[in-house]
Formats: sequence, structure tokens, C-alpha cells
Amino acid sequence: MPCLQHGDRAASVLFWPRMNLAFLECTRCGDRLPANQPQNICPKDGGILYARYDLASLRGKFRSDDLKGRPATMWRYAEVLPEANPVTLGEGFTPMLPSREYPNVFIKDEGLNPTGSFKARGMSAAVTMARHYGLKKLAAPSAGNAGGALAAYAAAAGIEAHIFMPKDVPIANRMECDYYGAHVTLVDGLISDCGRMVAERKDKEGWFDVSTLKEPFRVEGKKTMGYEVAEQLGWKLPQGIIYPTGGGVGLIGMWKAFDEMEQLGWIGPERPKMITVQAAGCAPIVKAFEEGKSTSEMFAAAATFAAGLRVPKAYGDYLILDILKKSHGTAVAATDDEILDAVRHWASVEGVFAAPEGAASLVAYQKLRAGGFFTARDVVVLFNTGSAYKYLDMMEGQRRTVRPRPPASRNIGGIIGPY
Ligand SMILES: Cc1ncc(COP(=O)(O)O)c(C=O)c1O
Ligand SMILES: [Zn+2]
Repeated sequence: MPCLQHGDRAASVLFWPRMNLAFLECTRCGDRLPANQPQNICPKDGGILYARYDLASLRGKFRSDDLKGRPATMWRYAEVLPEANPVTLGEGFTPMLPSREYPNVFIKDEGLNPTGSFKARGMSAAVTMARHYGLKKLAAPSAGNAGGALAAYAAAAGIEAHIFMPKDVPIANRMECDYYGAHVTLVDGLISDCGRMVAERKDKEGWFDVSTLKEPFRVEGKKTMGYEVAEQLGWKLPQGIIYPTGGGVGLIGMWKAFDEMEQLGWIGPERPKMITVQAAGCAPIVKAFEEGKSTSEMFAAAATFAAGLRVPKAYGDYLILDILKKSHGTAVAATDDEILDAVRHWASVEGVFAAPEGAASLVAYQKLRAGGFFTARDVVVLFNTGSAYKYLDMMEGQRRTVRPRPPASRNIGGIIGPY
């Protein structure tokens, strides 16, 4: 198959069969909604909608071997993605790096995506469908990286983006949104406050809400991480996947991908243990999991420098907690101090300069190894969901305020001084 170039949209139509998106299905009541028009959540019960494909017809026709030679982006899985010409910046098919420190551990480095985080995948799919439906104005609350990704893909699609972010997001997120030409509102509050503002204004302003899990296609983009984990490990799923969880879209998406792959006949019924890692300063899923609950409560006074994990109540909490339980997984909290140490550790040992959210995966792995949940023989994939380059201000602030290090003399470009 010829390589699909950025902007070469006609090529995707020529080469890829795209008749598989059948309907949208509510994850609470099972009601079906048509996929030929934009939909948010189930009108009956607010349930999250899943895109459903005619996988029975695809079984045997779409084989894992067919992927060979396809472009190294998430759109290589076109048959199980919505049928529209992709708005793509080259997202997905990120490296699966074998850890230098731990045998059988892999780091899935999502920091190499366009806009420096895995949010690119979800926004590529959501903006693709928004353009397909003819939508002109999109809006979303964001902890930072989703906003940056929305702004980039909206720019690439010629669509307006309206983004609401906490005023203390990393500078990189504010700047990228500005440069991509998005309309940004900085809010004195958390992502939940931003979400409320989008909900209040969207009808009057004519915005389509692409909030986390309030439209069906960000999950579709993020689920490609599940396809990639399987493909990059030779169609054998690992024993565990550790995923830094804010809204939980990637965890939910990967679980959906595994079910789809089983229906396609690509894998069997085996599943990895799915592990949520959250910041100790905002750990609603960890708390609910420990209490054996099926939904979470709003986490009071949420605070962490891992901005993407500062989600005090996930809309998809019922799906996340169900997946943790069904997969025999667990939920782990990491303090900001532990996370900062892990960023430095991964950088110096693995050569991976991870976002704080991503480095939290290492903290969780170490805790789960120490507690015997995983052994050295278990194959475990740790998700680094973003690049540290987007967090330089937060990391510097964290280093100064929480745990100052003694100044070290370093020779930086001829200037000798404390750093
Ligand atoms: C780098 C990073 N990791 C993890 C998350 C959490 O992602 P999710 O909402 O899919 O759980 C975010 C969300 O903003 C993020 O930016
Ligand atoms: Zn429903």
C-alpha cells in the first residue's frame, strides 16, 4: 500500500475500505443511535456512547497481516476507525521501548506524538468526524494537553476551537493554543469548572462539545494504543498495562480495542491487568477502587503538578472502575515527589524525558513490584503519555517549592553556576 502523506486525503479513500461504522451504542442502557449525525451522550441516561463496527463481517477479511507496510500512524487501523478522511498530523504508532532497567518492561512513548502527548490520537479522530459532519465550532475543557491537541487539529481542519483551561496549566499549553489560533479562556478553577462553563455556553454559541467522553470518537483515537500494544508485541498481550488516569479515555479505549481484536479473531480472551495510576493529590479512582465502589466521588482540594491527572471526577468513572475489576487490575497513587523523582530517573536511566503523568507509571510499577503484584517475569507496558518538554515550568516550580535540591555546580554552555 502506498504511504498516505499528510494532506493526501483522496488517497485514503482510494485505498481503504470504509463502510464499517454501524451505529453508536450507549454504555449504560445499550440503546443505539445513528452515527450519521453528531452525537454527544445518551439522551436517556447520559451514558457514554461507543462507536460500533460490523466486526462480524470484517472477521477473516481484515487480518492483522494486512497491516504490513501501512503508514506508521494510528490510521493504519482504518477499518476499525470512523469512516471519514482523516485530519492527520502523523499521530500514533509511537515507539515501544524495551526498558534498560527492567527486563520484560516496555515504555510506550506517547510523548513523540504531534503536540507532545497521546491526546493527539483522540483529537485526530474527533476532529476528523467533526469535519465529516460539517461542524464549524468545537469546544472543550482541558487540563492542558487535550486543549493543545484540539487546537492543532482544529487548525489543520479549518475549524474553530474554543478551549477552557485552568489558569495555572503549563505555559506550553497556553502558548500552543494561542499559536494554533484557538479561542482560549483561562479559568480560575479546575477542569470540572471549565467543563461547566462549556456546558453553559455551548448551545448559545453553537459549539459542539468535544469534552472527554462526551462524544464517541476521542475514545476511537485512543483505542489505537491498544491495537499498537498488541501489534508491537507480536499479537501477544502483556500481563499488565499501567496507565496514568485522569478522564481515563486511553484505558477505556484500549479495553475496547482488545474486545474488538478478539471479535476480529486477532487475539484470544486473555487480557492484561489494567492499572490506573493517579497523583496522590487527586486520586478519586484509587479511592473508589479501594472502597470497592463502582463510581467515584468528587475529590476535594485536588492538587498535583501532573496537570493531566488533576481531574477530580471522571465522567467515565463507571467504565474505568469496571475495567480495573474485570481485568484483575488495581489502582495506585503516586505523590508529586515520587513523580518528580521518577521523571529524573527515567530521563537518566532510559533516556526518556517523560511528562509527570507518564513518569507516574514508573512509580506505580515499582510499587507493584515491591508489593509482589507483578514479578520480574511479567511483561508490563508503562505508558508515558506525554513529553516533559511541555512541563518545564511546572517541573521547575515543583523542584523549587516542594523539595529544593542543594545547588550543584554545572558547566552549561561556558557559564558556571548553580542550576
Ligand atoms: C500527559 C497526560 N497524561 C495523562 C492524562 C490523563 O488522560 P486521560 O484523561 O485519558 O485519563 C492527561 C490528560 O490531560 C495528560 O495530558
Ligand atoms: Zn443510555
